[in-house]
Amino acid sequence: NMSVKITNVLLLDNVDPSAKKVLEENGIKATLSKEKFTPDALIKELQQYDGVVVRSATKITSEIIENCPKLSIIGRAGTGVDNVDVKFATKKGVIVMNTPGGNTLSAAEHTCTLVCCLARNVPAADASVKAGKWDRKAFMGHELFGKTLGIVGLGRIGREAATRMQSFGMTTIGFDPIVSKEEAAKSNIEWMTLDEMWPLCDYITVHTPLIPQTKGLLNDTSFAKCKKGVRVINCARGGIIDEEALLRALESGQCGGAGLDVYVEEPPTNIALVRHPKVISCPHLGASTTEAQTRCGREIAEQFVNVSKGTDFFGV
Ligand code: NAD
Ligand code: MLT
Repeated sequence: NMSVKITNVLLLDNVDPSAKKVLEENGIKATLSKEKFTPDALIKELQQYDGVVVRSATKITSEIIENCPKLSIIGRAGTGVDNVDVKFATKKGVIVMNTPGGNTLSAAEHTCTLVCCLARNVPAADASVKAGKWDRKAFMGHELFGKTLGIVGLGRIGREAATRMQSFGMTTIGFDPIVSKEEAAKSNIEWMTLDEMWPLCDYITVHTPLIPQTKGLLNDTSFAKCKKGVRVINCARGGIIDEEALLRALESGQCGGAGLDVYVEEPPTNIALVRHPKVISCPHLGASTTEAQTRCGREIAEQFVNVSKGTDFFGV
């Protein structure tokens, strides 16, 4: 087992204070900074640190890694490491770690929340009452009982979302290239190919990383294979559901509603999509719970401590 000397760590992006506590209890100096650094300012600041922890706002680019020779470990308090140049870091011998399980339950619960909101028009109904209206006809919904939820990506969040929606009486079907039929069945999910799945779904939720194989996975062609009025949820990464295709499907009625937590660009630039009356838009809130943030902050700090002691090693 290798160990890496970690003496002081900069905590950015409002990383939960539990990270500072765990690091300091283990003799590692930790500085919580609320500052939003420009790349140049960050390079300057990081000259004195051997570790940095970010959430999603700060980008740790190759330029930053290249120009911060002391930096030996980068932590992401969360799942996706899209904001860290992992390839370049690895080339330079800089360790990158994340906390993939820490916000699973929060992201799964948020997904289920969006399913329920789509079924009963909760956000629009609330806005209407607050605007002084009492329109009960406009918000006729439907039951989730007996409906089919298609899950693309049967990893941590996909499975937790599935078991929760089963308690509403939804049938859960799904696809994942590396999860077997037997493994899916353990979570009461019927495994099938995407082409088998599309025509059966009343709801589709995506839980994959954004990679070339998943970019635009829901596009004009796949929407056309779905039931008319299918509702879709993206609490994973912007672009897995093609935003232009989604807007077209909403306009034509092929898609009956969408719950979006993530966007190709954040904040979103596709205003027609986020303002569409059939779309529920959230500002990337999947992991925004006190529990998930505390867990992720603590876990990333514990992993740093383990690396510095050489006891355990959990890299990306
Ligand atoms: P995970 O790694 O546990 O699961 C992802 C699954 O996707 C894996 O099982 C993988 O085999 C599968 N997959 C890969 N390519 C696929 C393909 N082409 N088709 C179908 N499945 C495919 O990840 P997770 O922890 O469940 O996270 C899922 C996603 O949610 C990630 O993109 C993550 O960044 C995102 N996330 C978002 C939030 C949020 O705040 N909205 C919070 C946490 C995680
Ligand atoms: C993640 O990948 O962990 C989520 O998108 C949540 C976050 O950005 O904190």
